[in-house]
Amino acid sequence: MTAKIIDGKSYAEGLRGRIAGHVQRLKAEHGITPGLAVVIVGYDPGSQIYVSQKAKQTVEVGMHSEKYELPEETPEADVLALVEKLNRDPAIHGILVQLPVPRHIDPNKIIATISPDKDVDCFTPASVGKLQIGLPGPVSCTPLGCLMLLRDTLGSLAGLNAVIVGRSNLVGKPMAQLLLRENCTVTVAHSRTRDLADVVRGADIVVAAVGRPEMIKGDWIKPGATVIDVGINRLPAPERGEGKTRIVGDVEFKAAAEQAGAITPVPGGVGPMTIACLLANTVTTASLINGLEPPKDLTP
Ligand code: GUN
Repeated sequence: MTAKIIDGKSYAEGLRGRIAGHVQRLKAEHGITPGLAVVIVGYDPGSQIYVSQKAKQTVEVGMHSEKYELPEETPEADVLALVEKLNRDPAIHGILVQLPVPRHIDPNKIIATISPDKDVDCFTPASVGKLQIGLPGPVSCTPLGCLMLLRDTLGSLAGLNAVIVGRSNLVGKPMAQLLLRENCTVTVAHSRTRDLADVVRGADIVVAAVGRPEMIKGDWIKPGATVIDVGINRLPAPERGEGKTRIVGDVEFKAAAEQAGAITPVPGGVGPMTIACLLANTVTTASLINGLEPPKDLTP
């Protein structure tokens, strides 16, 4: 079998178009312009690219965007004071503090200070609790993006065996909650799982989020399964020239594509969905803060 390639880039483009429509309606019918503030502390080049992309796409869908670039040595108290100011700012409906933060800053303190109403990352304990019991609110961006791609590929997910490889707070755990809500039978595997290959072989859906390049082998994939690869790993690629790198996922793509029914590529699969879902969450929080029902097509 040769798998269908799940085009996350194109899906994310369509999603951003729908978000722009919802933003227009919120403006025209309710006088609300959803606003997203992104905060970055320090000079990590990867994080700077991400944050610039987030701010650019926020403006492109018609939202209000604020970007705070703070020097590496900013005291923790100043970051907390900024978050508190944004919590009180009525023009802001979503607050994202880019992680990792420099070592002298406790990320848990920052997260605990973000108002759960504006927690577009779904990092605060209150948001995680809401997600677990199915109350309306923001949903972790990458898992929400994975779910949208899965639904678009498969329709109903009910009764399917889903194996998530990776148990992070960012992806693995919220992904498990979302797939349970879809009536999947969910297994969360990880680096200590015994006979991981056999566990993956039983999966109708594989979500790979371990952060290890090409760890999931092609011959572990059940014929016809749907594979969602969350991994973004940079490997040296001397064949492309000195100092060059290439990006691979957590799945051995070529071999897995021989087995799977559908598979996300890296890059161009899950990656573009994450920022689009951040924008979707900002529409959700802007709606909820104003007592409106969030658009159904932006939430699980
Ligand atoms: N760093 C890498 N991914 C993320 C993310 O989704 N949210 C935040 N706040 N920081 C990140």
